[in-house]
Parts: sequence; C-alpha cells; structure tokens
Amino acid sequence: MKICVAGKGGVGKTLVAGTLARLYARDGFEVLAVDADPNPNLAVSIGIPASDAFKITPLLRDSRLIEERTGTAPGSGWGVIFNIAPDVRDIVDRFSIKGPDGVKLLVVGSIDYGGAGCFCPETAFLKTLLAYIVARRREVVLVDLQAGPEPFGRGVAKHVDVVVVVTDQSLKSINTAERVFRLSKDLNVKGITAIINKVTNPSEAPIATLEEIGFEVLGIIPFDELIVEADEKGWALIDYRAESKALEALRKIYSRLSAI
Ligand SMILES: Nc1ncnc2c1ncn2[C@@H]1O[C@H](COP(=O)(O)OP(=O)(O)OP(=O)(O)O)[C@@H](O)[C@H]1O
Ligand SMILES: [Mg+2]
Repeated sequence: MKICVAGKGGVGKTLVAGTLARLYARDGFEVLAVDADPNPNLAVSIGIPASDAFKITPLLRDSRLIEERTGTAPGSGWGVIFNIAPDVRDIVDRFSIKGPDGVKLLVVGSIDYGGAGCFCPETAFLKTLLAYIVARRREVVLVDLQAGPEPFGRGVAKHVDVVVVVTDQSLKSINTAERVFRLSKDLNVKGITAIINKVTNPSEAPIATLEEIGFEVLGIIPFDELIVEADEKGWALIDYRAESKALEALRKIYSRLSAI
C-alpha cells in the first residue's frame, strides 16, 4: 500500500500521516514514513522524542550526499551536467531511523516547486528517490507531502494507491484540495480520497462539496484540544491520550483506508 498525504499548509497532514503510520504498524505491517515537507516534523507525530526529532538532517540538505549521487553539488548554477537518475537503492536502509512500533522514518525534505520550476541535482535526487520508494519498497509507505503530488511524474503516480487529501472547512483549503484532485486525476492515481479535519460542527462539514469534486470522503476528524496539548508537549497523539475523539476518528479512517 502506497499512500500520499497532501493538502494546504496547516490542515493536519502531518498529524494524519504520523497517526496512520502508527496504526498500520500496530496492525502488524512494516511501515516506512517519508517526510517530504520543507519543514519536516513528521518525526514528532510518529512519536519520536522531540529532542531526537529536531536533530535529524533532511537528506536534501546533505550537500555531500547529493553531490556523491548526482555528481554535482547543489547550487552549482545553470548549465551544469548532472546524473538525472542517481543510484538511491541503499538510501532507505542507510538513512531511515526507527520509531515506536517499528515505524521507519526517512526525512527527505523538499524543494520549492513554485516559480521557474528548477531542475537541479536536488530535484533529480528527490524524484528518483520517491519513484524508487513507491515503486520498489515492500513496506506500507506513507509520504507526508508539502502540498500536492508535484514531485511525482506519471510513471511514479501509477504506483501510488491512494492520495489522502486533508482539508479543513475553509474555502482556501477546499480549493487546494480541488487542485490536488485534478493533478492526481491527471496523473491517473487510483484512489483519490479526502479527510475533513478540525471540524467543530459535523453538520457543516463540506462532505457534499468534496464528493461533487469527485473525492471519496474517508471521514471527518473533530477539532480536539488534546491535539493542541500533545503538540505543545512534543507528543504524538497516539501516545498522548487514548480517549481523544480525534484519535477515535482516525482509527475509523484507518479501517476505511485499509479496506480500499
Ligand atoms: N483535529 C485537530 N484539532 C485541533 N488542532 C489540530 C487538529 N489537527 C491539527 N491540529 C493542529 O493544527 C496544526 C497543524 O497540524 P499539522 O502540522 O498536522 O498540519 P500540516 O498540514 O502538516 O501543516 P504544514 O503544512 O505546516 O506541514 C498543529 O498545530 C496541530 O496541533
Ligand atoms: Mg506538516
């Protein structure tokens, strides 16, 4: 099972990716969680102690690694020649770290896809690595993405089983969800699903709007003070309070997702 979690900034992607990773692992699956956000913090949501989590260097910031694999150091300017298909087969085993319940975490980081659409050594490394992970790794893979599946090409997207788009009730995040839907559709992703997070009044959750766009809505997660508390203390929700309503909703979402 290869899952990408996408959506507008701040909607709860990392909470969803981290908690689902733990739920899969507790169910007996081998899990690889990939943090592909420019400000990686998936480690904390998986339950890796904050003191260790913030020491991890994202692979894309490791200039020596990028140079070793692509033949060119990041920031070498335009017109340089570099290897666009670097060897990444050993990366997961060498650089992933083990979290609770045996979840493996690989902190990759990301690059800015806006503006001119840079194609640099970092892009070659990131694209090749994500392609390799979704096409070849055997684990259940959960990728916490920056916003949408921009780093995936068509050939890679066919190995993604489900895109989970997290949205809250704001028009802005629904708009991002719609953009991610179209992009995923263009890339021929099989399952395109949505979760509505931070819901204060379930009767107002925009389920119909999302279904009209074409999403399969996996569930809604209530706004939950326990998440805010857990975050303030640097805990993963799943390790913080078993009675959390949001955690209960995430368990139901997990059941629906694992039935796909
Ligand atoms: N259901 C919820 N109830 C209350 N607070 C929540 C809920 N879900 C997420 N949050 C809070 O919202 C903030 C953003 O959550 P999270 O980091 O998971 O989002 P994100 O989409 O990964 O953000 P980013 O785009 O910055 O990576 C966090 O402070 C988190 O505690
Ligand atoms: Mg995040």
